[in-house]
Amino acid sequence: MGDNIREELNVQNPSVSRRAFFINALMGVSLLSGMALMASYFIRFLFPVSSAKPTRKLYVGNVSQLPAGKSINFTDLKGQSLNIVNTGDEFIALSTKCTHLGCQVFWKERERLFFCPCHDGFFDERGNVVKGPPPAPLTTYKVETVGQSIYIYVDEVNV
Ligand code: FES
Repeated sequence: MGDNIREELNVQNPSVSRRAFFINALMGVSLLSGMALMASYFIRFLFPVSSAKPTRKLYVGNVSQLPAGKSINFTDLKGQSLNIVNTGDEFIALSTKCTHLGCQVFWKERERLFFCPCHDGFFDERGNVVKGPPPAPLTTYKVETVGQSIYIYVDEVNV
């Protein structure tokens, strides 16, 4: 009698209906998750996050303090030592840390070279390896002159 009423009312078996509901719900959740993932990739494509490190512009000194062929030492916000050299054409800022094993390099004014005393490494005034075991040039930093003032751009310190 009950089955006849169900057939007349076109009601399906409740267990099959429940199964169908869960399958449809699972497919719906999967579809929404996929769409959300695609939307996040699309938003990242439209608005890419910059991977450039934030830098800070620091005053180094006056142009008159650094004549051609001279170098001065400077310590950045992280306490790292830099050399700023006047090549005669431009000012170049270089890390004093040798790329071989990290010893400190020194400016040899007469030879116009940076010298690493640990293993006799030499770098030119642009930081390129000239002689010795260093595997890579010295790290360079951006330099800017505004009027008579020299500035360098160093990595920002996280507070
Ligand atoms: S650490 Fe500078 S040459 Fe070895």
